[in-house]
Amino acid sequence: APSKAPESGAAGVFSRSRAAIAAKTLRTDRWWVPPLITVLGLSVFVIYATVRSFQNNWYWVEEYHYLTPFYSPCLSDACVPGSSHFGTPIPKLPSWIPLGFLVLPFLLLFRLTCYYYRKAYYRSVWMSPPACAVAEPHAKYTGETRLPLIIQNAHRYFFYAAALIAVINTYDAAISFHGADGGFGIGLGSLIITVNATLLWAYTLSCHSCRHIAGGRLKHFSQHPVRYRFWTVVSKLNTRHMQLAWTTLGTLILTDLYIALVAADKISDLRIIG
Ligand code: FES
Repeated sequence: APSKAPESGAAGVFSRSRAAIAAKTLRTDRWWVPPLITVLGLSVFVIYATVRSFQNNWYWVEEYHYLTPFYSPCLSDACVPGSSHFGTPIPKLPSWIPLGFLVLPFLLLFRLTCYYYRKAYYRSVWMSPPACAVAEPHAKYTGETRLPLIIQNAHRYFFYAAALIAVINTYDAAISFHGADGGFGIGLGSLIITVNATLLWAYTLSCHSCRHIAGGRLKHFSQHPVRYRFWTVVSKLNTRHMQLAWTTLGTLILTDLYIALVAADKISDLRIIG
């Protein structure tokens, strides 16, 4: 490949200390396929979640007590009767404000600052760099030391918020075992909501920050058997963090879509008991 002299003041792969290679990459394989798939996958979720969050409809199935995670907890006077399990401390909102506006930003920030998603969108969206041995288009590199990327360091605090929301999702799963006559019941919806809540827990607990909270800075594991045990479990889950990140995007869409279709009377819930 032809080489070019590094420009003075150039940064990144074009800085003076790097080999002077003009080509963006010498790779001949289809290195752009993984970032392309990533950007498509993330876009599908972002578009779906945005549309559904602003729809303000078809989020609660009164008969079986199914509440979609995108509207949980529903805390406004505008929430349909029965869907507010923790009261309605918030007055009626203009219809352009999503009913999940209190938790959605935290969930979004939790995922945006997640170590795995960072890798995914730094490569696919920000192209910094798009793949191994492929030069990035950016002339400057400041890492995560300035706004807005310095916010990435607050991931641990978004983890705490996400863990709290996972508790609420667990409650939603428990009450979804509700029969049409008022007693206990099981439907396909109850199972979907429960699987989703379980996987959300697995994703949340497999978080790198959670692993550090569990066992970080301990000098002697033997003196902290409970934390050591927790750290061992979290470490195992942590190896699956990427898979859980993608799986939960899928189960969130599936759970919401199923509840929306049942709530809109497009399909009827498959009942197993009650
Ligand atoms: Fe992914 Fe914390 S590192 S959720």
